[in-house]
Amino acid sequence: MSQNSPRPRVWVSRPLFDDIIDRLREYCDVDAETEDHTWTSSQIAEKLRDKQGAILGVSDPLDAGAIAHAPSLRAVANTGVGFNNLDLKALTSAGIVATNTPDVLNEAVADFGWTLMLAAARRVGEGERYLREGKWLGVSYHLMLGAEVHRRTLGIYGMGRIGQAIARRAFGFDMSVIYHNRSRADAAIERECRAAYVSRDELLRRSDFLILVLPLTPETHHAIGAAELAQMKRTSILVNIARGGIVDDAALIVALREKRIAGAGLDVFENEPKFNPEFTTLDNVVLTPHIASAATDTRRAMTSLAVDNLIAALGFGPQAGRPPNVVNPDALQARKNLSTTKTNNPDE
Ligand code: DGY
Repeated sequence: MSQNSPRPRVWVSRPLFDDIIDRLREYCDVDAETEDHTWTSSQIAEKLRDKQGAILGVSDPLDAGAIAHAPSLRAVANTGVGFNNLDLKALTSAGIVATNTPDVLNEAVADFGWTLMLAAARRVGEGERYLREGKWLGVSYHLMLGAEVHRRTLGIYGMGRIGQAIARRAFGFDMSVIYHNRSRADAAIERECRAAYVSRDELLRRSDFLILVLPLTPETHHAIGAAELAQMKRTSILVNIARGGIVDDAALIVALREKRIAGAGLDVFENEPKFNPEFTTLDNVVLTPHIASAATDTRRAMTSLAVDNLIAALGFGPQAGRPPNVVNPDALQARKNLSTTKTNNPDE
């Protein structure tokens, strides 16, 4: 951007860390929300109508309709590794760069996968409710019997960097680790993670704990439905820290109610934040509100990366024009083509 261009206007959809957002204020006029909202697509369209940039959360939908109403939008920085809330095709053809925040959250999300796995295995939520309800009468040797975790088989569905971080944590629990992924990991990664590649069916059949760490795409929608749950062991526990929509929640509720699997730990749901209320009637599921990356340093690192990406995508700072985490690189070319068309047809 030239020295004389007006400062870009940027919308920040959710309260983030003010001291980090201040870096954005050095280059841009920032309209930052001070409270969390469940934004609808048309509200987002209205907010972006006169903006050049946006920092969005992973549950803020940016669809083709909103993109069509944002003629000056040039860059969108998603605060999260997932970006299924963005219509990437529409962004790309409009020449709008989209970025995400990979890597900085791997370890915190892996920690949380384990948190849910252990909590579901050892009935932590149920135990706490029991205690708070004043039901505890003293040590009973039958109370809240749960599943062993150590020396069991951990199945990881999706062996990206978060899946690998989860696998490494299994060494201390002396577990066997198996995984399935769209493409098999390098031998060096398998060795380092002590993880064996298996087919999807074998993963479902053999896992004592099955953790989902795959992205939500049209191909992975309902990757775990009634048929897949039926293949799992009756003693197994399912953990979803990936995205709502990968699991068919209605089918999971039936499987949990009928004890076709032993339990689940869920951080993500279909139709968040209005998740299926039937879950709350079941004792064998631990429920958390999409907080797998919610550790302070990690959330600060995610915010910081989103800010770096947006500053660079808008043409400022040390990485001007080269945002580090572009998820639609074709947008850069599309933007060039669009500006050439505009120059050649100045009346447009
Ligand atoms: C992500 O990064 O995609 C997480 O779901 C956000 O916490």
